[in-house]
Amino acid sequence: MEIQFVAADAALPPKSALARIVFEGAGLDGQLARAAGASRFTGAKGQTLDVLAPEGTEAQRLVLVGAGKAEAFDAIGAEHAAAAAFHAVKASGLEALRAELPSADPQLAARAALGVRLASYRFDKYRTKEPPEKKPTIVLAQVAGGDADAALAAFPPLAALADAVAFTRDLVSEPANVLYPVEFARRVKELESLGLEVEILGEQAMQALGMGSLLGVGQGSARESQLVIIRWNGAADPKAQPLAFIGKGVCFDSGGISIKPAENMEDMKWDMGGAGAVTGLMHVLAGRKAKVNAVGILGLVENMPDGGAQRPGDVVTSMSGQTIEVINTDAEGRLVLADAVWYCQDRFKPRFMVDLATLTGAIIVALGHDYAGLFSNNDELSGALLAASGAEGEPLWRMPLPDPYNRQIDSMIADVKNTGGRPGGSITAALFIQKFVNGLPWAHLDIASVAWKKPSSVPTIPEGATGFGVRLLNRMVADRYEA
Ligand code: BES
Ligand code: MN
Ligand code: ZN
Repeated sequence: MEIQFVAADAALPPKSALARIVFEGAGLDGQLARAAGASRFTGAKGQTLDVLAPEGTEAQRLVLVGAGKAEAFDAIGAEHAAAAAFHAVKASGLEALRAELPSADPQLAARAALGVRLASYRFDKYRTKEPPEKKPTIVLAQVAGGDADAALAAFPPLAALADAVAFTRDLVSEPANVLYPVEFARRVKELESLGLEVEILGEQAMQALGMGSLLGVGQGSARESQLVIIRWNGAADPKAQPLAFIGKGVCFDSGGISIKPAENMEDMKWDMGGAGAVTGLMHVLAGRKAKVNAVGILGLVENMPDGGAQRPGDVVTSMSGQTIEVINTDAEGRLVLADAVWYCQDRFKPRFMVDLATLTGAIIVALGHDYAGLFSNNDELSGALLAASGAEGEPLWRMPLPDPYNRQIDSMIADVKNTGGRPGGSITAALFIQKFVNGLPWAHLDIASVAWKKPSSVPTIPEGATGFGVRLLNRMVADRYEA
């Protein structure tokens, strides 16, 4: 999608649709008032009204898009309105969309453009027979309203963000026969072209480090496990302590010997959504040349049940030295994170660690599909994450880490066991990870509830992979940790 910022009176490109974004209660005149009145269009958020091509407009088509109350119009409102405009005309056969904003703020114009970029994401590489009339036709989006040069100047970091979110969505959408750990690592390695440094450890290297917990998960798979280390050094001082982000990258989670039921098992191709989000974050930090040092660690494995697979009851030794009794091989994400998190703090001594993981079904039971769970041992870090979450429209809800619940994961024969029973399932999963953070400021985002949307109620998030986490972490870094 090509993006342009134009003056309100610039000539329209050929074959274009004009979307007039209007506030609730703002007076429309003439034919538009009649059309609105005849269809209960008030300008409320989310409403659209197609008035085709009234006389006196150059556009082939005119759409009114409601933006809600003028006083409440903000950056997310601009994104959503422009995204809704895109959806209204995307398959019309027209080639250009002009979104006319009811505000002259260049920041809002830039965010409107971001909204269109995010809304127009599609994963269609495996569709060979889609009828042409079903394919989106809009290839150019113009945003009008206010100072076009200022909007254009504000856009590059947002364009970098849109690229990164699309990269994450692609990773998360790929089927597991295509995207297995080695292929995931290869795609990340290609990001060195953005200025990232990428290191890849295979099973032998992880064996030497003592990562028995992560390796046990991949043991039943024909695909080799990988640990990927991504570094971005953008701070003035290249030795400044980095921020660290760790992602669960289970490229397919069959459950292992504790195998899952067939129904919806295909969803487990996106059990690498945490690693996908961390990759996207590193992508945007490099893309916009963020003034910060950051490291991303991906624990990439496939959880499969072959004759070499680990068994329920096995005891593994993690890199930290702590032994783990594997009660259920389907509680594998925490086993991967145990070693990835320990490795991260041991090698990088970061200012803080944030891990992202599609960790538990229990977080969906607790929070539904709008919120991810936030677990943290640090109020300042939690505050930073919650503030960024609000600003970017990626909702988080803080959950408790009660010490007494640790009794649920006491093992009879090892230091800890990997499941704590049904009560508070996402809490005991988080408490398990906490045993590997070695006291550092840490937050865990359980994104099992939000990494995939079917259906989606947000116009900037098409159905399927959401890319959740990239936006909020990028914002947190930008607002709090850049020099
Ligand atoms: N990957 C799953 C969690 C999940 C469930 C992600 C639904 C996305 C959608 C995780 O590895 C898992 O299997 N968790 C188990 C843990 C249980 C065995 C203690 C779960 O949530 O049931
Ligand atoms: Mn599992
Ligand atoms: Zn899993």
